[in-house]
Amino acid sequence: MMDYSRIAVFASGQGSNFAALAQAQREGRLGGGTIELLVSDRPEALVARRAQEAGVPALLLRPKDFDSREQYETRIVEELHQRGIGLIVLAGYMRLITPVLLSPYEGRIINIHPSLLPAFAGKDAIGQALAYGVKLTGVTVHFVDGGMDTGPVIAQRALTVEDDDTADTLAERIHRVEYELYPEVVAAFAAGRVGLNGRKATVRQ
Ligand code: GRF
Repeated sequence: MMDYSRIAVFASGQGSNFAALAQAQREGRLGGGTIELLVSDRPEALVARRAQEAGVPALLLRPKDFDSREQYETRIVEELHQRGIGLIVLAGYMRLITPVLLSPYEGRIINIHPSLLPAFAGKDAIGQALAYGVKLTGVTVHFVDGGMDTGPVIAQRALTVEDDDTADTLAERIHRVEYELYPEVVAAFAAGRVGLNGRKATVRQ
């Protein structure tokens, strides 16, 4: 059976989901999974400091220091293989992934998105949902494929948009849901409880 327990988290920004996952691991809520590496395309991002504090090794590379996206990802894949990484968890990683990374990790890359996909894919999903005026939004964890937030859905959690919500108040509630949902799904993955048949993902309890 495939071993998904050695995890790399990819992040570009704040890293609050990284922190929630690291905390889940410390508290024994990651299904036996261990975060072995942080990969960031922005060495100056807060998430790099959080990794240091959590004692997680970091691979911090600027894509513009490479001749192509493919070469950048080739370097990442080398590191993932060296560390025996079985699962890639994107948490605010702001780049599309190319086949260089996708093919060796097909079915083993997941992402979290702050809307109920397929509504409001892409950037600023929370702003998009508010501007559209939906009454219900939420969080989606999905497999990553070559598209923008298009892979099969693994888990979703909904929440109500209140009349007086601003981007900030809604984002805060969405983030709280993310910090619960992502560790749960990563734990299920690490424990080998996530299956995929066509577009239909299943999480065994
Ligand atoms: C989260 O809202 C996540 O859904 C989106 O990017 C944001 C990352 O936030 N993909 P953080 O860096 O984990 O604080």
